[in-house]
Amino acid sequence: MGGPSVKTTGARTRRSLLERAATALGSGTSSDNAAVRNLATADRLEAKYDATEALSASLPHNPTKPAEYVQGGQVTPAPEGAHAAPDNLDATASTISEDNTSDKNGSKATPGTNPNNGPLQRHRIDSGGRAITTNQGVPVADNQHSLRLGERGPTLLEDFILREKITHFDHERIPERVVHARGSGAHGYFECTEDITALTKAAPFAKVGKRTPVFVRFSTVAGERGSADAVRDVRGFAVKFYTDEGNWDLVGNNIPVFFIQDAMKFPDVVHAVKPEPHHQMPQASSAHDTFWDFISLSPESAHMVMWQMSDRAIPRSYRTMQGFGVHTFRFINAEGAATLVKFHWTPLLGTHSLDWDEAVKINGADPDFHRRDLWEAIEGGAFPEYLLQIQTFTEEQAAQWSFDVLDATKIVPEELVPLRTVGRMVLDRNPDYFFGETEQVAFCTQHVVPGIDFTNDPLLQGRNFSYLDTQITRLGGPNFHLIPINAPVAEVHNNQRDGFHQHGIFRGRVNYEPNSLAGGCPFQAGARGFSSFAERLLAQQATAEPTKLRAKPEKFADHYTQARLFYASQTPVEQYHIARALRFELTRVQTQAVRARVVAMLRNIDEGLAATVARDLGMALPEPLPMARAPVEAPEVAVSPALSLAARPGDGRILARRIALLVGDGVDGAALESVYQALVQAGAVPRYVGARLGVVQTSSGDALPVEVTIEAAPSVLFDAAMLPPGAGAAATMAADGLALEFVQQQYRHCKPLLVPIGAALLLEAAGVTTLPEDGGDPGLLFVPDDQLAGAGEEFIRRIALHRAWQRQTEPPLV
Ligand code: HEM
Repeated sequence: MGGPSVKTTGARTRRSLLERAATALGSGTSSDNAAVRNLATADRLEAKYDATEALSASLPHNPTKPAEYVQGGQVTPAPEGAHAAPDNLDATASTISEDNTSDKNGSKATPGTNPNNGPLQRHRIDSGGRAITTNQGVPVADNQHSLRLGERGPTLLEDFILREKITHFDHERIPERVVHARGSGAHGYFECTEDITALTKAAPFAKVGKRTPVFVRFSTVAGERGSADAVRDVRGFAVKFYTDEGNWDLVGNNIPVFFIQDAMKFPDVVHAVKPEPHHQMPQASSAHDTFWDFISLSPESAHMVMWQMSDRAIPRSYRTMQGFGVHTFRFINAEGAATLVKFHWTPLLGTHSLDWDEAVKINGADPDFHRRDLWEAIEGGAFPEYLLQIQTFTEEQAAQWSFDVLDATKIVPEELVPLRTVGRMVLDRNPDYFFGETEQVAFCTQHVVPGIDFTNDPLLQGRNFSYLDTQITRLGGPNFHLIPINAPVAEVHNNQRDGFHQHGIFRGRVNYEPNSLAGGCPFQAGARGFSSFAERLLAQQATAEPTKLRAKPEKFADHYTQARLFYASQTPVEQYHIARALRFELTRVQTQAVRARVVAMLRNIDEGLAATVARDLGMALPEPLPMARAPVEAPEVAVSPALSLAARPGDGRILARRIALLVGDGVDGAALESVYQALVQAGAVPRYVGARLGVVQTSSGDALPVEVTIEAAPSVLFDAAMLPPGAGAAATMAADGLALEFVQQQYRHCKPLLVPIGAALLLEAAGVTTLPEDGGDPGLLFVPDDQLAGAGEEFIRRIALHRAWQRQTEPPLV
């Protein structure tokens, strides 16, 4: 340890030494008063000074400086920053008084640690057995009254308890997300199931079997925070991986393409779909003039609109919904080699949707439909599970394709590049506190880890700016990464300081790099840190094309090839649903010219679709919209069966599906009990549904509890139903308008129905009079009353089919 030769034993010199070690203007430690400054302190300060000198001297120059420059045309990979450890830890302390512990101070920081990144339990609060206090920890004697001047007098300003409570309440709200405001979250884990270390060094894929904690938020896009769940909209599917190398956010949607090709248009498309600014209507709906005005003038949206008008936009559950990273990303392996990659989440339970009429009614019966479904499934142990699948390809392959992989309005068809399963995600824990977790979680596309990198997709590039920017307003400043749900599990060490809501108490005086006074710490990570893929754009430079411009590549101009691909890949009933959705949306559009322009756009996708929609709107077919570029004549893939929901039935399990067993006096209790138990065994949620709470008398005289009423839980909240076994109960229900409506809607929405033959009269009374004789409706299971006890298994098989769309007619039978 060597320092400047100022150290003598003389009192005067020691004092100046103390001043230098403390602050420039001196402090209590340099006082002449022995009570303030004792010798032990002085010795320690001297040692700190010596240690600081030694540490600083051990880094005599900045050895990594030359590597910052391109030299002789060579770029040097960033080296690890020079750093050294002090002999005496006091060298990097802010203060030597850090040893003085107290109940508040606790002990001093352990060098090289940041406890902010520990598990969330450090923030969990439980008030069991505790009395109410103020936010300053003062016990509150009376939580019922404000402090008043006499029992009938005015309230006193002095009442700091009242003022604190009311003030906090007044500020409980934060701005909602500008898009995706309505959402629901869950914790879980990602498990790597295949070795792809040859493709990427990203931490979640480091080893087969490795588990990485995740937090997922599903959302709608257009609606406000309190809007209904089952609206027609894109669903957000955002996953935060808390990896041991930092957070990776895969911020995707349940639709693999987007409306626009350049982030410059995002505020426009969002303004167009949100409630119109003059009267703030409609809520959470694209069925209005401004949306379709924008769309019909932005034909790059044609492909996305096909998805948005399909049943994908009214999912049955977050558990039965695919997710997509949308953009083409890059995997980077340990050698620095890049592979292009698309991400897909595939639910094990299949991809299933609602019927539109059903969705509309659900929004009244239970606006929290998807939130409740997710919560209840996890509470009940039916943990949602998704496969992570990837498509990987090279730049050279992509260059050959008729579409551009940097264009977010295009997919890479599975028939062109098959999916490969690389992991699974299980959501196994509900949040404790919606605001603290689901509301405050901040996803950002630019949160990537070594092994994942961006491409030049102009939408992605804009997103990479937007998310960080928006969190600063929504979460009140630049320190939102300190909010527990956002804090990585990987430790955070840098020189960013201060700002609103700073929680850290940083040790030491160094908040810059390079430094020698903290031994160079924290230092740049070099090869093991994130470094952007060194992309070569030289091909472009070799052409006469300007390199700085506002324009899109030529292939982006093909707006219709993949819209056609999607439509052509749908089953007839899915195509019908698309036409019906367009009819609904455009009926709500009031400007004739806008309607006409949309239909003109549809003509470029499918003449039959355009003709149906025009007919249903009572309008003549307009001329097709002019195209920026003709569709590809012989696309790589013209029909992709994988794009149809029919290709994604799931694994046959009916976990957490809600099944109504209609009951009334005179039902066969034994038959009901047997079906009920079979459903429970299968992981479904059966409910005895009756006219009133209480009990019904079974045919054998037993009391059967009614769990919920038709009024409180109408048909749309159930996936399937069993009609009441016993003609007496069925006859009573046939005279009950609500029960009839229940049966009608189960039928209209194509849901599986277990019909005891004796209860068929209820079906008839509901208007279901023309049943297919050829068994062409797999959703209808007729069972003789004396065989009901064994009917559970077959009923479950039918429920797993989800819906009998074959039943649907226009107009509906009932
Ligand atoms: C492929 C296109 C896009 C996808 C898949 C997508 C997906 C998402 C998702 C899932 C969320 C909700 C995150 C959460 O649950 O907290 C979100 C929020 C948001 N998105 Fe996007 N988005 C896309 C395009 C864009 C673009 C182009 C921009 C802006 C240029 C943008 C800006 C935002 C903003 C500002 C939020 C609110 C973030 C917050 O307050 O937490 N998005 N987006």
